[in-house]
Amino acid sequence: MKIVTIIGARPQIIKAAALSRAIKTHYAAKLTEVIVHTGQHYDENMSQVFFDELGIPAPNYNLNVGSGTHGKQTATMIIGIEEILIKEKPNAIVLYGDTNSTLAGAIAASKIHVPVIHIEAGLRSHNKAMPEEVNRILCDHVSTFLFSPTKTGYRNLVKEGFNEKNDSPYSANNPKIYHSGDVMYDNSMFFSSIADAKTSILSNNHLKKGEFILATIHRNNNTDEQPRLNALFKSLNDISVAEKLDVVLPLHPRTAKLLETNLDKELLQQIKSNPQFKIIAPASFLEMIALEKNCKLVMTDSGGVQKEAFYFEKPCIILRPETEWVELVECGAAIVTDADEMRIKDAFKTLTSAILKFPKLYGDGKAAEFICNELLSL
Ligand code: UD1
Repeated sequence: MKIVTIIGARPQIIKAAALSRAIKTHYAAKLTEVIVHTGQHYDENMSQVFFDELGIPAPNYNLNVGSGTHGKQTATMIIGIEEILIKEKPNAIVLYGDTNSTLAGAIAASKIHVPVIHIEAGLRSHNKAMPEEVNRILCDHVSTFLFSPTKTGYRNLVKEGFNEKNDSPYSANNPKIYHSGDVMYDNSMFFSSIADAKTSILSNNHLKKGEFILATIHRNNNTDEQPRLNALFKSLNDISVAEKLDVVLPLHPRTAKLLETNLDKELLQQIKSNPQFKIIAPASFLEMIALEKNCKLVMTDSGGVQKEAFYFEKPCIILRPETEWVELVECGAAIVTDADEMRIKDAFKTLTSAILKFPKLYGDGKAAEFICNELLSL
């Protein structure tokens, strides 16, 4: 069986590592993977560093599309992916998550009848103002094999009309849905033990175990809307000052570019003069694990970081109006606050004073093997 895997944005490179590892270890004789990097993320610390650390084979193709408007970026990817699919003639295309690279792959493949395998299917924020929500809905509805990491995701697919009882032969008209567990959990478990030993991010930034907040902010509505960006940074700075806590913020290039223009001058000055507010370059995967394992609490608008906090049993404040990982909130380990100063500060108090539970919600660390087995058995 030959698959073409599309990656492009940072989290997809990480997710793809789990499947590539499973193929290399168990299925190399039966499954050939051709990797296509769209080039959506291109900075060294947004892309190459993950290939190096996670041991992913170098991409067979790089479309080098770079940044642009949604339309231009997605359209350029579709053209490149279509050409590769026609040349490579794979049995299926593998798509991860909900980025513009995912959508481009779904459109290119479905139009020329290459079956789509969507990993991370079924997740919904129920907010179509998010580009990611549009991308994931469109991708799911042209997919043939849909692997949902959570029970909620699986149930969302059923609610949207996917039939649980479809029989082989499967197609986009007769798709097969699964609850597979989460490939990101596979990775975090696999790399957890080496993260501390192989990184020095804690000592480099003078961070003490259990005594700092890890924050990430990159969603377009948080970075582009001035009141939201200001509320987020003010909350972080106020908590850091009031609690005498370090805040470490590995900064996405999107946010870095907008900080000087979109943050109030006075607030920016306060942050720059707070020695405990540590803005650093984007972290590698192992560095992020080391930060997640050793922090006191996570504040993030990222989907992946919310879950990684949970894997390492850390409370999480979700800086978005809603989350597609609803089970984190249902079990009390995370609180959705949006970009609301009062709600963020209240959530901090609640989460740091409660005894939290972290049940096993994301599988057994072998989601990638399950997916490969299913694909080969079909
Ligand atoms: C994309 C995904 C988002 C995911 C995120 C992970 C979409 C619609 N969004 O958002 O779901 O959570 O990746 O990081 O696909 N930039 C650089 N260097 C890079 C990459 C980006 O400087 O290597 C800057 C550029 O100014 C660019 C901006 O970041 O315009 C946004 O990048 P883009 O890939 O369009 O979306 P992300 O915000 O990264």
